[in-house]
Amino acid sequence: MILVTGGAGFIGANFVIDWLAATGEPVVNLDKLTYSGNLGNLAPVRDDRRHTFVRGDIGDRAAVASLLAAHRPRAVVNFAAETHVDRSIHGPDAFVKTNVAGTFELLEAIRAYWTALPQAERAAFRFLQVSTDEVYGTLAPDDPPFSETTPYAPNSPYSASKAAADHFVRACHHTYGLPTLTTNCSNNYGPRQFPEKLVPLMIANALAGKALPVYGDGQQVRDWLYVSDHCAAIRAVLERGRPGETYNVGGEAEMKNLDVVHTLCSVLARERPGPDYAALVTFVKDRPGHDRRYAIDARKIGRELGWRPTETFASGLAKTVRWYLDNTAWLAAIQTREYQSWISLQYAPAA
Ligand code: NAD
Ligand code: TYD
Repeated sequence: MILVTGGAGFIGANFVIDWLAATGEPVVNLDKLTYSGNLGNLAPVRDDRRHTFVRGDIGDRAAVASLLAAHRPRAVVNFAAETHVDRSIHGPDAFVKTNVAGTFELLEAIRAYWTALPQAERAAFRFLQVSTDEVYGTLAPDDPPFSETTPYAPNSPYSASKAAADHFVRACHHTYGLPTLTTNCSNNYGPRQFPEKLVPLMIANALAGKALPVYGDGQQVRDWLYVSDHCAAIRAVLERGRPGETYNVGGEAEMKNLDVVHTLCSVLARERPGPDYAALVTFVKDRPGHDRRYAIDARKIGRELGWRPTETFASGLAKTVRWYLDNTAWLAAIQTREYQSWISLQYAPAA
């Protein structure tokens, strides 16, 4: 079996669901259930005996150690993190606690477990760190995309905390020989994403007839990957990646934010005709330190592991919009008091 951390969040839950469908191998899922973790994300596997959910913190070394001893996983995939750049600007402490110290504690528990394994299991064991392209910093319009050798230059508290975690993962491989793998992926979108991130926030606001808040001039560029394609990339790296290596993962879909929002408005107009969604677009104060452009060179994972995205931005976005339209109860359950206070804190002054 494998241990997944953060598997009640957006990508982790999609990964658990896809993993059971694709491999059938049992999964233990350790998640703290912070504001972005949600057992509702795991509804499709609620009655699946191959899935065991455990509420807990990756920073609790003793709890992780007993989980490892009890289940003896052959691999650990670490999704658990604080993940929202804007929240990291308002309050970086939680990012240092979970992403830096938490990942370190997790690694220490795993290192002790791995060291005591019989030789064959030691050799076969894998730790996969799910990281982000944001650790590479920002690109000018004509710069080549990020490759695995681009130096780390994080600009936000979020990306700095992810970069620190990645460095501990790297050190754990080089110093102790732990068989680690790291993936650096671009912006994901798809079902079950918490509606603080660009795509689901815009869908939620549009459906409620609220303003669609575009930061600054909306000309910032991101690369977009449909979440199931990311999950497939992680499975490929876990099975065939070389220990100690990092793999960039991207969607071959560089887009300006304003174009993303307008494309979304056209998909919504098709799927839920009626209001003039594009009229809701509102320019608001820019994010401090806003990275201008991210882009991914994903040739290594293509060449070595044969992975490529299967969805285009148009096909992935259509699936995503349909999922949100079909799951309004999921969305309503998330729009709690905590969510409303975040929205007021972040958007009230400007929007
Ligand atoms: P998310 O915020 O939706 O989910 C994070 C999950 O981690 C939640 O279920 C939360 O409860 C859990 N968690 C938080 N702190 C924890 C702790 N201390 N112990 C145990 N569980 C904890 O985030 P996501 O978008 O699913 O991102 C998952 C991972 O993928 C993160 O590591 C993120 O950095 C990385 N990533 C995300 C994107 C993206 O576009 N969303 C892109 C590249 C990489
Ligand atoms: P986000 O989903 O927060 O991902 P990240 O910052 O990790 O790339 O934001 C994606 C882009 O969209 C980013 O350039 C910031 C921008 N953005 C807005 O313009 N308005 C918003 O309300 C949000 C949440 C993001």
